[in-house]
Amino acid sequence: MYHIPAMLRETIEGLRVRPDGTYVDVTFGGGGHSGAILNSLGSNGRLYSFDRDIEAYENAGSIRDDKRFTFVHSDFRYLGQWMDYYGVTEIDGLLADLGVSFHHFDTAERGFSFRFPGPLDMRMNRNGGKTAADVVNTYTEEELARVLYMYGELKQSRQIARRIVQTREQSPLLATEALVRSVAGRAVTAEQLTPPQKKEMTLVFQALRIEVNDELGALREMLQAALRLLAPGGRLAVLTYHSLEDRLVKNFMRSGRLDGEIEKDFYGNILTPFRLIEKGLVASEEEVESNPRARSAKLRVAEKI
Ligand SMILES: C[S@@+](CC[C@H](N)C(=O)[O-])C[C@H]1O[C@@H](n2cnc3c(N)ncnc32)[C@H](O)[C@@H]1O
Repeated sequence: MYHIPAMLRETIEGLRVRPDGTYVDVTFGGGGHSGAILNSLGSNGRLYSFDRDIEAYENAGSIRDDKRFTFVHSDFRYLGQWMDYYGVTEIDGLLADLGVSFHHFDTAERGFSFRFPGPLDMRMNRNGGKTAADVVNTYTEEELARVLYMYGELKQSRQIARRIVQTREQSPLLATEALVRSVAGRAVTAEQLTPPQKKEMTLVFQALRIEVNDELGALREMLQAALRLLAPGGRLAVLTYHSLEDRLVKNFMRSGRLDGEIEKDFYGNILTPFRLIEKGLVASEEEVESNPRARSAKLRVAEKI
């Protein structure tokens, strides 16, 4: 199974798809959300879906033949340039379902999960760019500690960075299992980790993944392009999975600015390009029961004024 879309109904409702509108799904993944958007569109509607991982497109099945659909194999940070290329000056809605797909987590050779032995890769786009092995073997101890602290919010970031550097002085860390052993401080398999160690390992892997794919940098650029492209009344729907990206999206939707700074007019009214529609909706208990990975999903929707 490539992916199970989180909060599908709530997201599509939040987007309030207009049948003849132009929509963008910047995170195609398994195509669950894109498929639902296409189902809500009429024959004149259009959907542009991005994914930086070509395997998403290869798995897309019959959606690929839909005349209303265009797949863009690119990082969504280039949203503005691609819309220019296709001659799209305005869009009626944009969806971002951030992070990685189940396919990434569950495919050992992609290196995203500490649960499987595999290469320390973690690139969503395997055509180029640095891998997680490049990060753990070439960053200074200080830089590693910063990545672990900023993107994993790990209190033990300095100790973990120290252990990684000590390990790589013996031999480079090239595999997930080597990183697990180094972080745990002893020879141990993923199954032997205690629950707190598993939590720590999840955060170490998350931090490296965010660094490898520059996830927050891409999100910032995409949000600014989305604000420019959205037509008045157009909607921006974002599903986030951890507090760093959620904070960024929340601030942006409140203020229209990446730094989240609120501007006010002479009378003290907040100046913002958005009206907030959903302020952090989470998945229902039923959904989390059938799809535990939806537990961390948070949906925010804003409408361009
Ligand atoms: C959570 S999944 C999306 C799942 C999708 N909504 C579905 O219904 O199957 C996130 C997808 O976005 C892609 N992705 C993440 N960051 C990206 C970026 N900066 N540019 C393009 N694609 C990205 C990943 O490769 C992954 O396939």
